[in-house]
Amino acid sequence: MKILESSYEVMITSQEIQKKVIYLADLINEDYKDKNPILVCNLKGAFIFLSDFCRCLTIPHEVDFMSTSSYKKGMETSGIVRIVKDLKTNIIGRNVLIIEDIVDTGLTLNYIKKFLALHNPLSIRVVSLLNKKDRRKIEVDVDYIGFEIPDKFIIGYGLDYEEKYRGLKYIAELIDIKNMDK
Ligand code: IMP
Repeated sequence: MKILESSYEVMITSQEIQKKVIYLADLINEDYKDKNPILVCNLKGAFIFLSDFCRCLTIPHEVDFMSTSSYKKGMETSGIVRIVKDLKTNIIGRNVLIIEDIVDTGLTLNYIKKFLALHNPLSIRVVSLLNKKDRRKIEVDVDYIGFEIPDKFIIGYGLDYEEKYRGLKYIAELIDIKNMDK
């Protein structure tokens, strides 16, 4: 499947993203002083955000990765979430910061939070670069949000459409699905 390059339109520029990453990291630098948080990155979408974000942190922190699958096909998630890769770190008594690219229906984040809570961390909070509030199917707290965005399918800065476009420096809206060549 191929999408013509003209099928997307920039929604958030690289400069806007970088400014927001610094803003979010500064909040965490303040709120997590002396807390040595563990940043839990949910692959794959959040990997670029995590790498920029953690380089703006000035406080001690650790990083670990997990991966969930929601049986996604194209732009829709099935709502059935499962853990594909678990953490290596023992998070008992730790301050966990879940690093998300986007919260959409909220089903993935809700599942991850419940899963991590079973391991008895001291606290769990969430940093998400993007939030699509209008699409929520379940109520879930997102403590630090970069951008509120409308109900549009977006790509870039880690986010994909069928595994493409993750490397874009900006975030763009996929606008012309009809332009797809099968
Ligand atoms: P949720 O479970 O519906 O909140 O969705 C979680 C995951 O769906 C995110 O971590 C993304 O990987 C993916 N996702 C949601 N919206 C978009 C989008 O607009 N573009 C690309 N991926 C998305």
